[in-house]
Amino acid sequence: MAGASTKSLDLAKPFAKPDTQRAAWRVWLDQRVDAWMTSPGFYRWAIGNPLTRWVTRRRAAQLFDIMAGFVHSQVLLACVRLQLFEQLRVQPMPLDELAKACQMSAPAMQRLLHSAVSLRLLESRGPQMYGLGPLGAPVAADPGLRLMIEHNAVLFDDMRDPLALLRDQVQPHMQAYWPYMEGDSTQGWEAAQVARYSELMATSQRFVVEEMLATYDFNGHQRVLDVGGGQGGWVGALAQHAPHLQLMLFDLPPVAALAQARMQQLGVDKRVSTHGGSFISDPLPPGADLVTLVRVAHDHPDAVVKALLAKICQALPRGGRLLLAEPMAQSPGEPPMVGDPYFHFYLLAMGSGRLRTADELRGFMLEAGFEAVDQLSNPMPLHTRMLLGRKS
Ligand SMILES: C[S@@+](CC[C@H](N)C(=O)[O-])C[C@H]1O[C@@H](n2cnc3c(N)ncnc32)[C@H](O)[C@@H]1O
Repeated sequence: MAGASTKSLDLAKPFAKPDTQRAAWRVWLDQRVDAWMTSPGFYRWAIGNPLTRWVTRRRAAQLFDIMAGFVHSQVLLACVRLQLFEQLRVQPMPLDELAKACQMSAPAMQRLLHSAVSLRLLESRGPQMYGLGPLGAPVAADPGLRLMIEHNAVLFDDMRDPLALLRDQVQPHMQAYWPYMEGDSTQGWEAAQVARYSELMATSQRFVVEEMLATYDFNGHQRVLDVGGGQGGWVGALAQHAPHLQLMLFDLPPVAALAQARMQQLGVDKRVSTHGGSFISDPLPPGADLVTLVRVAHDHPDAVVKALLAKICQALPRGGRLLLAEPMAQSPGEPPMVGDPYFHFYLLAMGSGRLRTADELRGFMLEAGFEAVDQLSNPMPLHTRMLLGRKS
């Protein structure tokens, strides 16, 4: 039975440009290389040859990592659920004590600990003593990261049968998590559901906020509007970072109400106004000379994103800017982006939107009326990449 999940999926632009047909000699060469690399003697030859051995070893390790990826993420999930990172942050602990605290046998606990050590999540600190590893430290430090790791269990559950998900034969649980995938009417939404997704967004937004503050100079602006601003993690941080700014947040009414309370808690509610509405069917609040759109476009189909960008462009004065920040896909010719498969499948399970390349988004922004669109260079493109559009 087909679910309602993939109804609004759009096709991405192809990797190769339409006018770049592969030359006949190249097709011939590709076929020869494919045949050679999959021939029975190839592996033995490649591993026996000192010049090619290191490439073969590296590729074997990479393939093994892909194959074992699910096990790795389950080791991480187990450590998060057992609160190992929080406990070991305080002090290293011995195996027996950890096993007792986690209510499992010492041999079982040891397997988890050794797996986590080999993934550098934990570290051996003496015989049967364990402490935080270099990759466990950020997880120990960030509750948002732990919430995200726990939340990924919903996605992995939906991906248990990847073909059923791809063929639209299951109703993914991810869709129930994000009620706005069903449309922009908030009637019948449960407060707990809105609070749950808004909280997840707020806690996972910290890294994106760091990227934006580190990359763009907000001094030249007076009034900023954040569209789809969630609970206001970004506008709250920006209000504290740039005390001269007036700010507005626009989101669906129940979310905007949560943001209002959050702004009061932060003590910035005099400078941040919150506006409830849908960017699909309502006008945007006027008066901003900078609009920010953070992790919003990737949730929506092309038609909705194009209409939203046009609405933003109309709402801006001449010289106004749009700063769009979200994870973006590998563009043709770019090195592979490690996060791409995750976001492709996350959005597939959500049932709407897609991970777009910076080129595609730039094209959408130009089509919407922006005169020039530049990609900004930010320290950690894995979390987000940024485009700045200027209205003439
Ligand atoms: C993925 S969250 C991102 C929130 C925030 N910008 C962040 O980065 O954490 C997308 C946000 O868009 C809001 N949203 C979705 N559809 C909307 C609509 N039609 N009108 C206004 N906001 C909408 C959601 O309520 C949610 O807060």
